[in-house]
Amino acid sequence: MRSSLRLWVAVVGATALLTATACSSSGDGGSSAPKDVEVFTWWADGGEKAGLDGLVSAFGTDCGNFKFVNGAVAGGAGANAKQVLASRLAQSDPPDTFQAHAGAELTDYIKAGQIEDLSQEYKDWGLSNAFPKGLIDNLTVGGKIYSVPANIHRANVIWGNKTLLAGAGITADAKTLDAFFADLEKLKAKGVTPLALGRDWTQLMLFESVLISDLGAQKFTGLWNGSTKWDDAGVTKSIADYTKLLSYTNKDRDTFDWTDAEKLIMDGKAGYQLMGDWEAADLDAKKFSGYSYSAFPGNGNTFQWLADSFVLPKGAKNPEGTKCWLKTVGSAAGQKAFNTKKGSIPARTDATVADYPAYQQAAIADWKSQAQVPSCAHGSACSQGFQGALNSAMGKFSADGNATALQTALVAAAGQFAK
Ligand code: GAL
Repeated sequence: MRSSLRLWVAVVGATALLTATACSSSGDGGSSAPKDVEVFTWWADGGEKAGLDGLVSAFGTDCGNFKFVNGAVAGGAGANAKQVLASRLAQSDPPDTFQAHAGAELTDYIKAGQIEDLSQEYKDWGLSNAFPKGLIDNLTVGGKIYSVPANIHRANVIWGNKTLLAGAGITADAKTLDAFFADLEKLKAKGVTPLALGRDWTQLMLFESVLISDLGAQKFTGLWNGSTKWDDAGVTKSIADYTKLLSYTNKDRDTFDWTDAEKLIMDGKAGYQLMGDWEAADLDAKKFSGYSYSAFPGNGNTFQWLADSFVLPKGAKNPEGTKCWLKTVGSAAGQKAFNTKKGSIPARTDATVADYPAYQQAAIADWKSQAQVPSCAHGSACSQGFQGALNSAMGKFSADGNATALQTALVAAAGQFAK
């Protein structure tokens, strides 16, 4: 062979080898290796991870051609994950799917043109009638539906350490804010932290619960659509009540994630904590069974809801794999595998109630019978910009205690972001 021909053969051969290697490592074809599906969440530990694991096992059954790749970024409420996600989306490097809250938060991604329309998949997979209409409305913009809901969570729940409560003479959870203050006094007299609290977004959750108590379901909902003004006297009263509640909380709250506050309950160092019902699953996963739960005092028959859903980002590397994940998320088996471990209730309306732990059985009944209001801390009520502004206002108030400045900041945030 002449030397120039030998060189040509060598170059072509090497190129072919490189191409084959590239194909098999990316799984793009010519190989039987399962293609990766990167699933981006903030469910990295405890009950949240247990829920995700349930979904992953259903995905393994349904989608053998694809491989789950865990893109979780730890941190409650996505405090860290959302920042990582925003920068990846800005760099056109989306994961194959990510979790997004139904409602205003999802609308942010739709308006930014970052996620795909799934209307056809809803038809193909028979999902159009699988979920409650109100929830579908929260996933729809301009007649197109953009995500598959995995669950419904409840935000306005207080969790208690039963032994501590009994020791302080508290035999039933308070039904009004005034009765709650009296119980917090009893816990304080016992030398424990009456109410465990964490950083900014957990403070926003507590404040939202107080707003529900003081304003009622309808006026509370009006805060997010502009029909209730943030300079309302009811909001001023809520700030006063919230200020009083803060005086019963741990001083290091601003450094705490929700699981740190939860640990105070588990360790018998705090009586109560306000948190969403992922706490039920987390306490179960951590084998702590001595807990009580009730709607936040004064919230009466109001169910503050949020829903985790999954999307198909524009430019996802493996859209077919993502679709298989989404189909699993929306399936009866997927919802059962996930929600029995996550503390949430299924978004699907055809679930078998008896399949669920006692907490979720009660929540399924409440979801059907109670007034539903959305959550800003978890994206059903407000955009990410509005949420960010409120989180920083709460964090600032936690440090400086300036009630007038807090209400001014709330009014300003609503002026900039409320619909
Ligand atoms: C919420 C999410 C829940 C739970 C919680 C705490 O935003 O919807 O599923 O993960 O954060 O991290």
